[in-house]
Amino acid sequence: MPAGTLLYAQSGGVTAVINATASAVIQSARARKVRVLAARNGILGALREELIDTTPLTAAQVRALAHTPGGAFGSCRLKLKSLAGDRAKYERLLAVFKAHDVRWFLYNGGNDSADTALKVSQLAAEFGYPLTCIGVPKTIDNDLAMTDCCPGFGSAAKYTAVSVRECALDVAAMADTSTKVFVYEAMGRHAGWLAAAAGLAGAGKDDAPHLILFPERPFDEAGFLARVDAVVKRVGHCVVVASEGIRSADGRFVADAGGGKDSFGHTQLGGVASYLAGRVKDALGHKVHWALPDYLQRSARHIASQVDLEHALAVGRAAVQCALAGQNAVMPVIVRDADAPYRWHVDIAPLERVANHEKTMPKGFIRKDGYGITAAARRYLQPLIEGEAFPPFGRNGLPDYVQVDQAVLRRTLPAWQG
Ligand code: F6P
Repeated sequence: MPAGTLLYAQSGGVTAVINATASAVIQSARARKVRVLAARNGILGALREELIDTTPLTAAQVRALAHTPGGAFGSCRLKLKSLAGDRAKYERLLAVFKAHDVRWFLYNGGNDSADTALKVSQLAAEFGYPLTCIGVPKTIDNDLAMTDCCPGFGSAAKYTAVSVRECALDVAAMADTSTKVFVYEAMGRHAGWLAAAAGLAGAGKDDAPHLILFPERPFDEAGFLARVDAVVKRVGHCVVVASEGIRSADGRFVADAGGGKDSFGHTQLGGVASYLAGRVKDALGHKVHWALPDYLQRSARHIASQVDLEHALAVGRAAVQCALAGQNAVMPVIVRDADAPYRWHVDIAPLERVANHEKTMPKGFIRKDGYGITAAARRYLQPLIEGEAFPPFGRNGLPDYVQVDQAVLRRTLPAWQG
């Protein structure tokens, strides 16, 4: 058995398949006889020395993680500042790592987490502590640099496309005497990838969604309302998909839920659909329904994409391989070899090229009029939602999800006073 422990932590917004990555990490490490600890609630658990030993998990439990949404070990939003600015926290992390003989640190998150993993690796080097830090990609926002796509996105994209297609049938049936406009709000903060995925719901000129609003384009309310009205007149109803992150020309979020910020400094979004629905009703007089799927889109494991699941498993396996091979400060990434039939492989990218970068939709993916996706976007998005990775269902009609005991190991260091 190689000396040392592997520490795995989940970070930021969880996804339908982040636990599949955890499952692959644990299985791959077990195959190499490496003990895996998981930090409870991400980096916070590492700071607090709240570490869960995964050794007692049965093989069946570890396998079941691969079809269980949420974050089995808990996640957190905690952004560490620069090495100088948050020195005490980084030193505490190293102290905890030393106390538990952690030689490999796998941080499963987005671009902020890649930054944290990079800084931890830099401090370890400064202290001469032998530690290999790996970033493991995930985010439904699909905004990580250096990877063709992010595990978690494909499943959220599939949920979005499926839901918009289904709702569109509902509205079409009701439109003559009742609802004429339906507004669906997609997550994605500054990047319109999920809103774009809704475009897969239909391909014909008058298929829903009729209008997509991207954060990459300034929101023009008068132009939007005129288009909604025109679609209602032509088609009989109108399905709108709005990204939570759309902004007006002066840069302000259309939906800024109370102006609160998380510890990453991100504004909490959510509410754009209700705002737009109100404007459509007041300005045009159409009956409107709207939906804020919110966490539903992030956790919809019941309709996960098979391709996404395979990506999530592959980055988990690759992360363990990189770690044990001593490839420090890297992230396994997905590389696309072909669109159709879809082919891909895993490669390795330096963390410094992932940390803090945000990949928005390329210009060529948004239609010239700004309200829909192009053929190039379709070619990119289509393979990511393919295949259905259904979880097993129990006799009660519900998915059979596993719950991990979050009991932590006995602390060996003084309590963290952070
Ligand atoms: O993880 C990304 C994301 O899902 C964003 O699309 C969304 O705005 C945000 O997380 C919500 O974060 P939280 O769950 O911390 O409020």
